[in-house]
Amino acid sequence: MCGIVGSVSTKTNVIPILLDGLKTLEYRGYDSAGLAYIKDGNLIINKVKGRVKDLENHISKESNSNIGIAHTRWATHGKVNETNAHPHNVGKITIVHNGIIENFSKLKHKLEEKGYEFKSESDTEIAAGLLDYYYKKYENIDKAIQKFMKKVDGSYAICMLINDNPNTIYVIKKDSPLIIGKGNNENYIASDVPAILKYTKNYYILEDYEYGKITNNNITIYDKEGNILKKELKEYQGSDLTSDKGIYEHYMLKEIIEQQTTIRKTVNPYINNIKDLLKLPDLTKYERIDIIACGTAMHAGLTAKYLFEQYSNTKCEVFLASEYRYQNNFLNNNVLSIFISQSGETADTLAALKKVKEEKYDTLGIVNVKESSIARALDKVLYTEAGTEIAVASTKAYTSQVALLSVLALSLAYRKKLIKEEKINKILEEFRSITQILTPILEDTITYENIAKEIYEKSDIFYIGRTIDYALAMEGSLKLKEISYIHSEAYAAGELKHGTISLITKDTPVFASATNKYINAKTISNLKEVIARGAKCYLITDEDIKEDNIKVIKIKKVSMFIKPLLTIIPYQLIAYYTAKLKGCDIDKPRNLAKSVTVE
Ligand code: G6P
Repeated sequence: MCGIVGSVSTKTNVIPILLDGLKTLEYRGYDSAGLAYIKDGNLIINKVKGRVKDLENHISKESNSNIGIAHTRWATHGKVNETNAHPHNVGKITIVHNGIIENFSKLKHKLEEKGYEFKSESDTEIAAGLLDYYYKKYENIDKAIQKFMKKVDGSYAICMLINDNPNTIYVIKKDSPLIIGKGNNENYIASDVPAILKYTKNYYILEDYEYGKITNNNITIYDKEGNILKKELKEYQGSDLTSDKGIYEHYMLKEIIEQQTTIRKTVNPYINNIKDLLKLPDLTKYERIDIIACGTAMHAGLTAKYLFEQYSNTKCEVFLASEYRYQNNFLNNNVLSIFISQSGETADTLAALKKVKEEKYDTLGIVNVKESSIARALDKVLYTEAGTEIAVASTKAYTSQVALLSVLALSLAYRKKLIKEEKINKILEEFRSITQILTPILEDTITYENIAKEIYEKSDIFYIGRTIDYALAMEGSLKLKEISYIHSEAYAAGELKHGTISLITKDTPVFASATNKYINAKTISNLKEVIARGAKCYLITDEDIKEDNIKVIKIKKVSMFIKPLLTIIPYQLIAYYTAKLKGCDIDKPRNLAKSVTVE
């Protein structure tokens, strides 16, 4: 989604720094890019619809400046075009903005009454107009920013240049992440740490309703009343800073393969012996676990629901964060709310977390990006060790989340003495061997490529399963539609006949997994129902199933705590090879963003 980079320096030309930062943020998804800088007192703005590379080509080679701000836009208000792209300039103010100004329409009318004219459909231009209006009215930037924060509803990370003061970048923040990097006679601003890591590892995190002024050798941060704050200078602790595709054609494939190590790395502290499970938080006092997340992270939660309920005997509900934040959640002190997020910046998940925190109930998080907004807001956080995930379609982050939730459920079952120690030791042994267990599944490329050839020209594909296999069907279906643009739906296997089976016609592909021995036979019956209507079926299972008209992908028999990690891999790779055959932009699918920082 939208990305911000800014830099002010003593003598370095910051334009390459800005472009470099934007390139680092590219994988998050965007549709246009732009930058603004001041040269010899003149403000220069360049914007393009398209890629950062197009912006680079658009900028004159002689461009040189010691101060500038830049942006990648993922359209919310207004079409994808150059006019709506950032930066937006109104009067003396030029800004780039992440987030959404919710009351922009009301503010726009008020500003128009005062004589302002706007060129774009963007809410950001209105924010620039409002800042310009208050700046002219009060002739004082602090007052203007403070008033702006009072009047604006919504979320914003704003990076601003003022024509009058060509040595300072101003920043304002609420509900959208923004950091200030501290360098040597050179400072930086970014929406995400990786954008500036090439230049500095030291940074300040801006909290809501804080604003700042940044020059080449000074960073001052204020609260909403204008008091100067003493902020902690952080040092980036993450390890996997660089990420290139290596020998792989796409990041997605690289990340699928990396699951051989990322799962193990994530659970490593908890699996060497049974007592290691006690390093995980003690959840025995909770009567209910709520899991709140978006997208693939929510699917990881659905997998865990089965494990918590079946093996740890604890009720578990899973919610989409975007729904959860606006409903009655019947919380009490016996409920633990677990938030899952790869990026740690998803706006809905963060808002849902804030809601639980406001009511002072317990929270726990599973997050991949250290020091992210969600990680910082949680009572307690367990980190997945998936490393940087670049492909928009989540794979290794998902399996790390599933693995961590699995050991958490196992730890709870152990504490409650619901599983025999001998059985737990066997499961831990399987976790320790996960790399070897996954290798043959990852290497069965031919099978996945052949299936891809059979399905890539189809327009509708169905995924079915029961209990944990239903959760996996949802993730399998999401992977396929995200990257191949083939319409697909996931259904509880038993539900299909209540309507959707009417869509099954000759050769409609239907995928299923049957990995739960208690109900596999029921899933097979459901497959037979669709075969009778002409469907072409593919089944992932650990059982010896041989049925006419069902193509079986066999996986190793392992414990239910491990099995979802195996089952999902064929689904990921089938989606990958199908998208490849269709010639899709696999790592950056249309319309999607890696980190969704708006509601
Ligand atoms: C976006 C991404 C998904 C991801 C979801 C939640 O939609 O494209 O891959 O699952 O956001 O993101 P999070 O970072 O909170 O896990």
